[in-house]
Parts: sequence; structure tokens; C-alpha cells
Amino acid sequence: MVSVHLIAKVLCCVVFVFGGLLFSSDAQLDPSFYCKTCPNLQFIVHKVVWKASLTDPRIFASLVRLHFHDCFVQGCDASVLLNNTDTIVSEQQAFPNNNSLRGLDVVNKIKTRVEKACPDVVSCADILALAAEASTFFSHGPYWKVPLGRRDSLTANRTLANQNLPAPFFTLDQLKAAFVAQGLNTTDLVTLSGAHTFGRSHCSLFVNRLYNFNNTGKPDPTLNTTYLKKLIKICPQNGTGTNLTNLDPTTPNKFDKNYYSNLKGGKGLFQSDQELFSTPNADTISIVNKFSNNKDAFFDSFKVSMIKMGNIGVLTGDKGEIRKQCNFINKKSTKLDVNIVASKESPEEGMVSSI
Ligand code: HEM
Ligand SMILES: *[C@@H]1O[C@H](CO)[C@@H](O)[C@H](O)[C@H]1NC(C)=O
Ligand SMILES: *[C@@H]1O[C@H](CO)[C@@H](O)[C@H](O)[C@H]1NC(C)=O
Ligand SMILES: *[C@@H]1O[C@H](CO)[C@@H](O)[C@H](O)[C@H]1NC(C)=O
Ligand SMILES: *[C@@H]1O[C@H](CO)[C@@H](O)[C@H](O)[C@H]1NC(C)=O
Ligand SMILES: *[C@@H]1O[C@H](CO)[C@@H](O)[C@H](O)[C@H]1NC(C)=O
Ligand SMILES: *[C@@H]1O[C@H](CO)[C@@H](O)[C@H](O)[C@H]1NC(C)=O
Ligand SMILES: *[C@@H]1O[C@H](CO)[C@@H](O)[C@H](O)[C@H]1NC(C)=O
Ligand SMILES: *[C@@H]1O[C@H](CO)[C@@H](O)[C@H](O)[C@H]1NC(C)=O
Repeated sequence: MVSVHLIAKVLCCVVFVFGGLLFSSDAQLDPSFYCKTCPNLQFIVHKVVWKASLTDPRIFASLVRLHFHDCFVQGCDASVLLNNTDTIVSEQQAFPNNNSLRGLDVVNKIKTRVEKACPDVVSCADILALAAEASTFFSHGPYWKVPLGRRDSLTANRTLANQNLPAPFFTLDQLKAAFVAQGLNTTDLVTLSGAHTFGRSHCSLFVNRLYNFNNTGKPDPTLNTTYLKKLIKICPQNGTGTNLTNLDPTTPNKFDKNYYSNLKGGKGLFQSDQELFSTPNADTISIVNKFSNNKDAFFDSFKVSMIKMGNIGVLTGDKGEIRKQCNFINKKSTKLDVNIVASKESPEEGMVSSI
């Protein structure tokens, strides 16, 4: 394990320099961005995420979702991490996030370790992107080189979080519109929805499908009746809606293609999931069929779409900042503050071996 990381570290710059020459046309982001300024970055992220998973197996799913909820609101700029302050209305209390965002503490743990190893250079937005990739990989999903160099926002926008994040009761047309608004197409929609191959949901987000779908007083007709009975046991009518259930009833913690075979068997948990297969004549059906039959096709597509999502509205160059603490924008430094910070600086602790 350690030697693999060492080799990866040494190769990092070399490989990426040539990679950069070959694909330089593309983005402003670059997987080699921290090669020189924070060579242990990926190792630190992997170590903290892995350690967290030992007591919280769901953390992988939660970290993937956190990156998604960052990117769809003002772009991938770590705006989702900002807490309420005098000037910030946090996105964490927007409807799609309130009482359901997880992993914020793990991100802070990563940031603390990263600041010790390489202070003031790595953005919280990049940490979210790296944590999402590591989580996918650790769950037996694909791995990819994460383009880096994002900077952190100075603002958050709860209104925009409520507007931009798709809801579980969305129809296919609404889902497509929400993704198109982010520059993502129908293939990206079907592919990224495949992240519902792991993680959990609260009953409140789909309970209408069990008892009173679309005000019919009946269950959603596209819901598999065996699965319906199982869900009814977990989510009683008029319950609090706070019980949790697996998004993927077959392999709840594994990143695989079962999400798509579930849809074919009427076992999509959300209406937004099942719509991809059960909307008559939809152009998404053939994509679901393809992914359910071909793991490589899904994994290859997932890498591409995650990188595409990770590029949404990124801040680079001198835009934004590198936050010192992910939950707060940096204090404006007057000359006096700079002196105080400089004199307070603590001696650097040991390298990553102390993690
Ligand atoms: C297509 C529109 C989408 C809708 C309507 C949607 C909706 C939801 C909802 C309602 C939950 C349950 C939240 C809770 O009960 O706390 C959830 C969980 C989750 N979503 Fe999505 N989602 C969508 C797309 C995505 C995308 C694009 C990703 C990532 C690429 C993603 C990743 C996840 C993961 C991993 C979980 C489980 C999180 C956990 O267990 O902590 N979702 N989603
Ligand atoms: C940010 O706010 C959340 C509650 O919304 C709280 O649990 C957390 O401790 C806060 N983080 C910091 C660093 O103050
Ligand atoms: C978020 O959830 C808390 C606890 O359930 C609730 O008290 C609060 O009103 C919610 N906030 C918003 C903005 O909906
Ligand atoms: C949040 O986004 C909305 C919708 O784009 C915009 O009208 C509003 O000015 C933004 N608010 C803040 C605080 O940036
Ligand atoms: C819900 O009902 C309305 C009519 O009341 C109908 O137009 C719509 O297609 C229905 N939606 C679904 C998903 O069945
Ligand atoms: C939670 O699920 C259990 C069954 O697993 C059920 O007995 C209980 O009533 C549910 N609670 C709520 C609040 O929905
Ligand atoms: C749930 O509430 C509805 C309307 O308030 C009522 O008609 C129904 O009988 C209740 N169901 C149960 C199982 O309590
Ligand atoms: C519903 O689920 C059951 C059990 O997983 C499965 O055997 C059956 O084929 C499914 N029914 C449909 C219509 O897909
Ligand atoms: C959608 O985007 C993917 C990349 O994510 C691309 O390969 C594909 O050609 C696009 N499809 C359409 C119909 O534009």
C-alpha cells in the first residue's frame, strides 16, 4: 500500500506533464495541480476517508452526494460547506440538504490534515472532488484522475440550492431540465443517477409513492409490488418519515450497476429514479438497458460525467480563495491581522505519517 503510494507520488508530476501536453485543450483544471505544492494530498484524502468508513460504511455515499450538492449550486466551489454567519445564509438548511447532508465532519478532518502537510494551498472544493472519487473507488466503483485547481467561493446561496437541486418527485422532463441547466445532458443524467447504487434515504422522500401517488390514493403503479410491501413495512403511513432505507435493495453499499437492473424490475426508490425506465418511449430507457447489461459502459460513462460535473462553474486563477477552514470564508486580512497571523504561526508538525 505504502510503496504503491510512493510510486504514484513520484510518477505524479512526470505522468501528468505528458498527459497535460496531450490533453491541454480541455479544462482550466488539471490533475497535476498540487503535484509540487501538496504531493501527499491524495494519500491524505484516502487515509481519512478510509478510516471514517470503518465506523460509518455509509460515508462513501454521503461524500459522493456532497460533491454533487456542491457542484449544482454556484458551481463546484465548496459553497455547500459554508455555515450560517452574519453574511452567509448557509445552503445546509435548503430543503434538499436540511437533515440529510452528511460527511461535513470528515471533510473538516481531511482539511485539518491537509493544512498541516501543505498550508493554504488546497481548496475545500478540490477536497470534495477528491473525496467523491476516493469514495467511489473504495466502494468497488471506477477510479479516475480528478482534475484539480478549483478555488473556494466567498458566498453561498440557499435560494439557489432550493432551485437547482432536483427533487425525488421530479418527472423526467423536470430532471432533464435541471441537468441541462448545469450543462449536463440526458446521458449524464442517467449515468450520474447511477450513484443511487449506494447510500440511504429517509422515508419522507418517497412515502407518497407507497400510499398516495400523484393524489390517486393508490401506490405508484410502476413500483414492484414485492418491493412495495417491503417499503410499507419500513415506512408506515402517517409515520414521521425519518426511518432510513437503502437506495439499492440488492447491494446497499457496493458501487455496481445494480441500480439499472433495479429500475428494470420496478425497484427504483424515488420517482426520479423509476422515471428513467418507466416513462413511455423515453430516450433514457435504452441507456438504462445498456448500463444494466454492461458494467464497463456504466463505469466509463460515470468517470466522464463525474469529471464533467466537477467542472461546473469552477473558480480558478485569482477568483475566490483558498479557505483556511471549510465552513467559513477567510477573515479579510488587514496589515495588522497579517502580522498577528505571522507571529502566531505554530511550528509545522510531522509529515503525513502522524495521521
Ligand atoms: C437525478 C436527480 C437526483 C435526485 C432527485 C436525488 C435525490 C436524492 C434524495 C432525495 C436522496 C436521499 C436523501 C436523504 O434521505 O437524506 C439522495 C441520496 C443520495 N444521492 Fe441523490 N439525487 C439525484 C441525483 C444524484 C446524483 C447526480 C448523485 C451523485 C453523483 C447522487 C448521489 C446520492 C447518494 C450517494 C445518496 C445517498 C447519500 C447518503 O446515504 O448519505 N444523487 N438523492
Ligand atoms: C456548522 O454548522 C453546523 C450546524 O449547521 C454545526 O454542527 C457545526 O458545528 C458548524 N461548524 C462549525 C465549524 O462551527
Ligand atoms: C431544518 O430542519 C430543522 C430540524 O428539523 C428545522 O427545525 C428547521 O426549520 C429546518 N430549516 C429549514 C430552513 O427548513
Ligand atoms: C442567489 O441566487 C439567486 C438566483 O440566481 C439570485 O437572484 C440571488 O441574488 C442570489 N443571492 C445571493 C445572496 O447571492
Ligand atoms: C399526475 O397526474 C397528472 C394529472 O392529475 C398527470 O398529468 C401526470 O401525468 C401524472 N404524473 C405521473 C407521473 O403519473
Ligand atoms: C421504522 O421502521 C420500523 C420497521 O423497521 C417500524 O416498525 C417503525 O414503525 C418505523 N418508524 C417510523 C417512525 O416510521
Ligand atoms: C393516515 O392519515 C389519513 C388521512 O389523515 C387517514 O385517512 C388514514 O386512515 C391514516 N392511515 C393510517 C394507517 O393511520
Ligand atoms: C418484483 O420483484 C421480485 C422480487 O425481487 C421479482 O422476482 C419480480 O420479477 C419483480 N417483478 C417485476 C414485475 O419486475
Ligand atoms: C452527452 O455528454 C456525453 C459526455 O458526458 C457525451 O459523450 C455525449 O455525446 C453527449 N450526448 C449528447 C446527446 O449530446
